[in-house]
Amino acid sequence: MNLSKRLKTIQNFIDNDVRVVDVGCDHALLDIYLTLNRNIKCVASDINEQALNIAKKNIKKYNLENKIDVILSDGLDNIKLLENDVIVISGMGTKTIINILKNKNLKTQKLIIQSNTEIFLLRKQLKKLGYRVIDEAVCFEKGKYYPTIFYEKGVEVKNILIGDLLYKENGKEYVEFLINKLSNTYSKMPFSFEKIKLKSKILFLKKSLRKYLRNSR
Ligand SMILES: C[S@@+](CC[C@H](N)C(=O)[O-])C[C@H]1O[C@@H](n2cnc3c(N)ncnc32)[C@H](O)[C@@H]1O
Repeated sequence: MNLSKRLKTIQNFIDNDVRVVDVGCDHALLDIYLTLNRNIKCVASDINEQALNIAKKNIKKYNLENKIDVILSDGLDNIKLLENDVIVISGMGTKTIINILKNKNLKTQKLIIQSNTEIFLLRKQLKKLGYRVIDEAVCFEKGKYYPTIFYEKGVEVKNILIGDLLYKENGKEYVEFLINKLSNTYSKMPFSFEKIKLKSKILFLKKSLRKYLRNSR
């Protein structure tokens, strides 16, 4: 089966011999791909029963009923997490992701998160929850950028706005895109404290981009 570029970016972060808990699996495409092509055990979960019915049909089509556990769950509520699980949360807004991560059962598990909304808020909240970035990537598919971040428990010491993203494939283009997008928002905002904060983010991104361009000459 073919996996989208976006989901491939996620699978690139996953080592063999781990269990993946795919929260919001929808039709379980990532889980089927990982089970067929890698030595990885998957738990496919979603809050939506209809999505899971399609997931089950897809899983059956590939004869993987005994290999992928399918669980109806709001976030992590009905999932018995193991210490070394890798939790994937993708295709959801940052606020939903953060709510899911506030689950008390989340302890030592690694996280792979792909959200293209409110990316600064996501990074800030993950730091607050005691996570640090292990690695990150940006995928560009069908005209959209999808930042994807791999986290583990630990103290974050990198800057939380963009981490090392500029030095990754598509990173420069993504930061240029962010600067344009935020500058556009900035120009339409009435004067406020939020506007001042946004200005300092834009200046930080511009400064980081200049530094990157200087270093890569
Ligand atoms: C756009 S799909 C993304 C599917 C897949 N993860 C991907 O990246 O292609 C979002 C999925 O998240 C599910 N979802 C939304 N909120 C959820 C929650 N609180 N717990 C579990 N699943 C949730 C939706 O039902 C939907 O199937």
